[in-house]
Amino acid sequence: MTELHGTIESHPLNPGEEATTYPPTPEFRAQANINDSSVYWRAAQDPEAYWAGRANELRWTKPFTEVLDWSNPPFAKWFADGELNVAANCLDRHVAAGLGDRVAIHFEGEPGDTRSITYAELTSEVKRAANMLTSLGVKAGDRVAIYMPMIPEAVISMLAVVRLGAAHSVVFGGFSAESLRARIDDAEAELVITADGGYRKGRVSALKPTVDDALALHGGGSTVQKVLVVERTAQGVAMEAGRDLWWHEEIPSFDDQHEPLGFPAENPLFILYTSGTTGKPKGILHTSGGYLTQASATHRDVFDLKPETDVYWCTADIGWITGHSYVVYGPLANGATQVIYEGTPETPDWGRWWSIIQKYGVTIFYTAPTAIRACMKVGRQVPEQYDLSSIRVLGSVGEPINPEAWRWYHEVIGAGSAPIVDTWWQTETGAIMIAPLPGLTSLKPGSAQVPQPGIDISIVNDAGDRVDRGQGGLLTVRKPWPSMVRGIWGDPDRFVDTYWSQFGDRYFAGDGARVDEDGDVWLMGRVDDVMNVSGHRLSTAEIESALVEHHAVAESAVVGADDETTGQAVVAYCVLKSQQNILSEEDAEGELKKHVAAQIGAIARPRNIYIVNELPKTRSGKIVRRILKQLAEGKDVGDTSTLADTMVMSVIQAKVSGIK
Ligand code: WTA
Repeated sequence: MTELHGTIESHPLNPGEEATTYPPTPEFRAQANINDSSVYWRAAQDPEAYWAGRANELRWTKPFTEVLDWSNPPFAKWFADGELNVAANCLDRHVAAGLGDRVAIHFEGEPGDTRSITYAELTSEVKRAANMLTSLGVKAGDRVAIYMPMIPEAVISMLAVVRLGAAHSVVFGGFSAESLRARIDDAEAELVITADGGYRKGRVSALKPTVDDALALHGGGSTVQKVLVVERTAQGVAMEAGRDLWWHEEIPSFDDQHEPLGFPAENPLFILYTSGTTGKPKGILHTSGGYLTQASATHRDVFDLKPETDVYWCTADIGWITGHSYVVYGPLANGATQVIYEGTPETPDWGRWWSIIQKYGVTIFYTAPTAIRACMKVGRQVPEQYDLSSIRVLGSVGEPINPEAWRWYHEVIGAGSAPIVDTWWQTETGAIMIAPLPGLTSLKPGSAQVPQPGIDISIVNDAGDRVDRGQGGLLTVRKPWPSMVRGIWGDPDRFVDTYWSQFGDRYFAGDGARVDEDGDVWLMGRVDDVMNVSGHRLSTAEIESALVEHHAVAESAVVGADDETTGQAVVAYCVLKSQQNILSEEDAEGELKKHVAAQIGAIARPRNIYIVNELPKTRSGKIVRRILKQLAEGKDVGDTSTLADTMVMSVIQAKVSGIK
């Protein structure tokens, strides 16, 4: 069972923060996709009927007759006797409806190269790629690993894989060879699709060499048979004969005729690894019909999408769930026109995002609070140089958005009028669960507010009883939802244990939340050992185990400390092995930071590493992370009487303040 700490107690509401709400303007409300609040109670009366209706907005090759099968909880089946092809829903369906000339993707490379791809073109590319993958032996039920930069071929690869009824496992391009290999092994992928590299921060960031390193680890001998390489940066990479193939050399020999087969609604669509409370990442499994239903429905409702006129842009990388649901599946299933940008917001300067919005006339913009705070730091004079008047809806995801950042986003990017939808969800939930509906909700800065129609959220105390309004507790989902995680790849026990053992009959998300007097939900952060750094999930246990794998480290404790820009930052305390003078204390900090980046990926690199002689422990030998977290945040550590040795703390405290 997930061990909790820091359970949220009741928080008195801060009256100042909630005094100002932002109701929809009459003009916005009048044109909104949803402006009748009866949708909530209609969905609540019969959630299955509601979701069946939404599912029927998709194209099924075989209609479903059964909506939800919850006979074997927590393993849900949605629309189980129906069949569909997810890629055809995102592509062929729009072409057949006469929308082939609509732009699907405006691609903007970091160096400034651009490509606009219509639905007809994207459909042909995916068909060609599907034929190529078939020739490489990919078939329904297989897994394909994708390790790519944010280029159109990443999207094409994902859709080509699922068109064949196979499942992808996209691994974020910032992950190390070790992390990539662990994911390849766990999913037993036989094919890896990658690129020579991508452009980030004005430089070539190599990917193929990392794939080579990953496959050479543990004496070689992985499940991988072939590596397909897209040429993006042309920096010159080694190609292993018999294993590695260039995409551009292979693809011309395949034609763009390909009939999509229908696959069962519960056919695996993808595995996406995410950090949990133990050292080993979890392979979150999503399936086809329910996932696509909720990803597309929420994309249309929450962003008030008008596919004929909107230009949508979500800045997430496809290596994360937001990139899956709100770059690939939601927008494409809805026939939206979207922007995909390869690089970072500060390249060549901090005006890059705003210049892209101006250039393409972006109307809906979806990003993370950490990016908003970074832009705030740079100053409003930068976005003010650009014409952002096309923007009509703004979105936020990944962590709670602090009211100050909310107001800046609203005023500076949204001209004081664009509604902000703060969307709460997780890799496990697959799609948005709590968010305002911009034509209905009076917005409150800092709150995700309202469960989506058909979603049953309940904030409970440790005993599982619903808390009163004005109180805090744990966020749970009471009823199954279509895009819910179907399991942890290869580990059904861990699935039950992680999410369902806390309360038995309901899903426990790992987040604390409170409900205000109006019934709106405020997210309060994780209550388990998962950190949220720049909107990315990291596990304290995973970083700790990477640290102790270093030959000089005897013991380590990692905490997520509050950080003004990144939300939380990784802070590690390490005890070095005393007998071995392998590493001087002075060198240790830099060396260990590098080690973590090499083991897991640059996103996991600790902000601070403190070398200490001992860690604070209880008499039963448990490390007291609460104290280490407070210390890292420069706070008073409070009561230390539960420690076996209270002296330890004064030594560590001296160290932390000395190094700072
Ligand atoms: C956090 C990202 C507050 C939360 C889609 C959750 C949020 C974790 C919000 C999931 C939000 C995400 N407000 N917290 N709007 N959105 N979170 O799996 O702690 O990368 O459990 O999915 O991010 O992160 P994941």
